[in-house]
Amino acid sequence: MDTANPGNAMTRSIDTAVIILAAGAGTRMKSKTPKVLHAIGGRTLLGHAVHAAAGVEPAHLVVVVGHERERVAAAARAAGSATGRDVLIAVQESQNGTGDAVRAGLAALPADFAGTVVVTAADVPLLDSATISDLLAEHAAAPAAAVTVLSFTAADPTGYGRVLRTQDGHVTEIVEEADATPEQRAVTEVNSGVYAFARADLESALAGLRADNSQAELYLTDVVKIANAAGRTVRGTHCPDPLIVAGCNDRAQLSALGKELNRRIVRSHQLAGVTVVDPDSTWIGVEVRIAADVTIAPGTHLEGSTTIAEDAVVGPDSTLVDADVRAGARVARSSVHESIVGPGATVGPYSYLRAGTVLGGGGKIGAFAETKNAEIGEDSKVPHLSYVGDAIIGRGTNIGCSTVFVNYDGVNKHRTVVGDHVRIGSDTMLIAPLTVGDGAYTAAGTVLKEDVPPGALAVSGGAQRNIEGWVQRRRPNTASADAAAAAIARTDEQ
Ligand code: UD1
Ligand code: CA
Repeated sequence: MDTANPGNAMTRSIDTAVIILAAGAGTRMKSKTPKVLHAIGGRTLLGHAVHAAAGVEPAHLVVVVGHERERVAAAARAAGSATGRDVLIAVQESQNGTGDAVRAGLAALPADFAGTVVVTAADVPLLDSATISDLLAEHAAAPAAAVTVLSFTAADPTGYGRVLRTQDGHVTEIVEEADATPEQRAVTEVNSGVYAFARADLESALAGLRADNSQAELYLTDVVKIANAAGRTVRGTHCPDPLIVAGCNDRAQLSALGKELNRRIVRSHQLAGVTVVDPDSTWIGVEVRIAADVTIAPGTHLEGSTTIAEDAVVGPDSTLVDADVRAGARVARSSVHESIVGPGATVGPYSYLRAGTVLGGGGKIGAFAETKNAEIGEDSKVPHLSYVGDAIIGRGTNIGCSTVFVNYDGVNKHRTVVGDHVRIGSDTMLIAPLTVGDGAYTAAGTVLKEDVPPGALAVSGGAQRNIEGWVQRRRPNTASADAAAAAIARTDEQ
């Protein structure tokens, strides 16, 4: 989440660099997509890491890529520009471990940068800027440390490196699970994979790393032991909220962290004045903005850059993607994508607003309607069972039930323009391109192929013909024929 700790003044940290490790394949995800490009809350794991890092305004922000480097680097740059800053890309040629990855990351920093290097992993999606700031403050406290490790207490420490301390609390080393003794595995204080280092100490410790462990990798975690041996200050700081620093290695953790992120997002909106009736069935992405006094009914998904203005009611059972819902509007049991719902307008139930729909203030798109690239003016209505595509409709106009804007001739799409205060009769086909003038009417069942001038009533097809006795002659021995015969016999008796 982007919620920075308000008590924490975030000044630009000119002596801080952040290196985000994102070179691993993430094999435990069992996916053709690199782990760090899986998303929760509508943002990739890497995107979350970049946002958290950017929030402390470091002088340099490095992302280390390796596996699927082009895709991951592109996502890193995109996340950087979403936060308004440049991301330096470092390449780790082969994935020889987190220590090797940090070496690659350091190579991307200016040689004369002598400040604090924060290392985070791209698979810790709930990590926020405030937690990194707290780590930096702890690291800088006298005596300034060579290494400060952010740890937490895990209910189930499986898979994490264990943080070992002396009796008086001094951090001595981090032991990976694969290398730990049974006693060490019983330790529940674990390494979050987030650290602050003095660059010079980090560089010299990395030079001493050996892959003499069960995974034959260069472990960044060994820097702790090496710095201790060199007589440098090593500190551990404990994060009280284990979920903020929980790693994501498989899809079970992905959904658990996604659910937790959502719980936090929903709660922050609730505390800001939004009524969320059922947090468990409401999903809100990180970029969504909602004003106070909005009501979100159960089963609602708000995604992308969706914004909802005050007093609007959204849901139940609705999906909004990049939607702009204005004040006092209502959307029920409908899908709204890349569209604007004007102030006081109503949508649904059971309608689908596709990209480019602009429903004017006080307007209505009722039940079972589909709209696309359609401007529908103020107080105009599409109440039932209609398709409106590639259209401009004026104000105060009513589109009768079961009307189709026939926009596609099989090859090209064409536009229809309907004026103000028009009454389109039920079951009208408007075969585009055409224009219906202000104040015009169309009769029910009209097939419009030509423009209708202002104030005209358009009628298509000839007068009604009733071919007497057709059913009995052409559909003999059917229930219809029998019913018709009985009715005619009754009429004849009178
Ligand atoms: C790591 C830590 C462990 C810690 C845990 C916290 C080490 C040796 N272990 O274990 O102590 O408890 O994180 O979540 O550091 N990566 C690279 N290049 C590589 C290997 C990994 O860039 O060669 C990146 C991955 O993309 C990932 C991060 O480093 O973003 C962590 O790697 P991962 O394999 O998930 O480490 P863990 O086994 O979780
Ligand atoms: Ca991990």
